[in-house]
Amino acid sequence: MNKNFFKLIIYVATFSLVGIVFTQLYWVKKAVDYKEEQFNNSIHLGLKSIVNQLLNDYNDSTLKMMQEQGEKCDFERTSIYDVIDHKELDKLIHQEVGCYIDYHEAEYAVFSKVNNSFAMGNYDRYKAEIMNSQHLVSLDCLFSSGKYYLAVHVPGQKNLILYRLLGWLLLSALFILATIFSYYYTILTLLKQKKLSEMKTDFVNNMTHEFKTPISTISLASEMLLKPNVFESPDKTQKYAGIIYDENVRLEKQVEQVLQITILDKENTKIKPINLDLHKIIHKLAENFKLSVKERDGSIVTQLDAEDFTIEADRVHVINMISNLIDNAIKYSPDAPNIKLETRNIKQGVQVSVIDNGMGISPEHQRQIFKKLYRIPTGNRHDVKGFGLGLFYTKTMIEAHGGTINVKSEIGNGSQFDLYFPFHSVIDISNEE
Ligand SMILES: Nc1ncnc2c1ncn2[C@@H]1O[C@H](COP(=O)(O)OP(=O)(O)OP(=O)(O)O)[C@@H](O)[C@H]1O
Ligand SMILES: [Mg+2]
Repeated sequence: MNKNFFKLIIYVATFSLVGIVFTQLYWVKKAVDYKEEQFNNSIHLGLKSIVNQLLNDYNDSTLKMMQEQGEKCDFERTSIYDVIDHKELDKLIHQEVGCYIDYHEAEYAVFSKVNNSFAMGNYDRYKAEIMNSQHLVSLDCLFSSGKYYLAVHVPGQKNLILYRLLGWLLLSALFILATIFSYYYTILTLLKQKKLSEMKTDFVNNMTHEFKTPISTISLASEMLLKPNVFESPDKTQKYAGIIYDENVRLEKQVEQVLQITILDKENTKIKPINLDLHKIIHKLAENFKLSVKERDGSIVTQLDAEDFTIEADRVHVINMISNLIDNAIKYSPDAPNIKLETRNIKQGVQVSVIDNGMGISPEHQRQIFKKLYRIPTGNRHDVKGFGLGLFYTKTMIEAHGGTINVKSEIGNGSQFDLYFPFHSVIDISNEE
């Protein structure tokens, strides 16, 4: 995928997600506001209805008569208690607004704004709140104008409204979280896939590079063999045929190795454990690698301190594992490689350490190098060949033996790879998980 296009997709997705979350929050806020408005209206209508009913119940014939005649009544002479019966008011409050509020928590009162006095109601703790309540109707039509008011205070009104919307709020939160999680997971997978695809491209490039050399050598040698006068010199024929044979064997080995390791996983790993003398194997390997180390003016030394060095393990895999580490130690030492092979007994097993004075590995790469096809990026340089499979193979195999692999390294100061082989505990990994 084009790098810029990939970036664009991530930006668009992030922007859309933030947009969706904000839109959703906006609508939730709108819903809460709307519900609050609805709540206020209901209470207001309830209070209005109470006033109407009180008016209807008011049996003062004079008032009635005067109202019928359209004359203004002299209310000043009437006491509020003559106009409103407290019990009746309580019943009406219960009946008209009780269903919207917590009747036992809410407080109401008939009060005068003229002298800030309370005439009746169930007021107790919230006198000040009642006087400033938004749920307020004037009792002008019942009593002298501008004097008495009926008000209700609903404590925790916001919570009451939120509680009524709780189901929707929770669903919204759940969907927002699910969307954010899916987004995070998708982007993470996308990035992983991208990295994997880059690693695969590197692998193919490396493989082409690795195979090109023997193929061109074979091609050159066969060309020489095809020359008409070559058979006059049997030495030359022998030499070219030998080159072709050797390069062919090398190619075959490489193909086999790549094929084997790329399909390597826990399911198809087969181990044939036998009793092995680990020190003997290490001595043999040190001997084998001596030549290639000497070629680069390096050295390979052993310090085998383990007293008990017989382990139960698969011979071929053990040789391959240690060889991979020695091979890396040589490959990744830019100067003369000085390699040390050590053993010692630790917790019911043997630890084999391969120590080099090479280029070292930074901590961030130390976590990655055991992954399949992973190679520390070196730009476009192909001076050190490899497929990024050696350590993956080694880790898979040592774990199949119930052991571990660890690395200690510092950039510029070399690396130490520790392989821990338990004496016995070979895990049959086909049964794992
Ligand atoms: N001793 C070491 N010193 C420095 N870097 C190392 C060392 N061993 C491994 N590495 C880094 O870890 C990477 C992975 O190593 P690994 O052995 O898995 O692959 P490789 O050597 O590149 O290829 P191959 O499949 O041929 O072994 C290497 O590419 C190298 O960058
Ligand atoms: Mg390697």
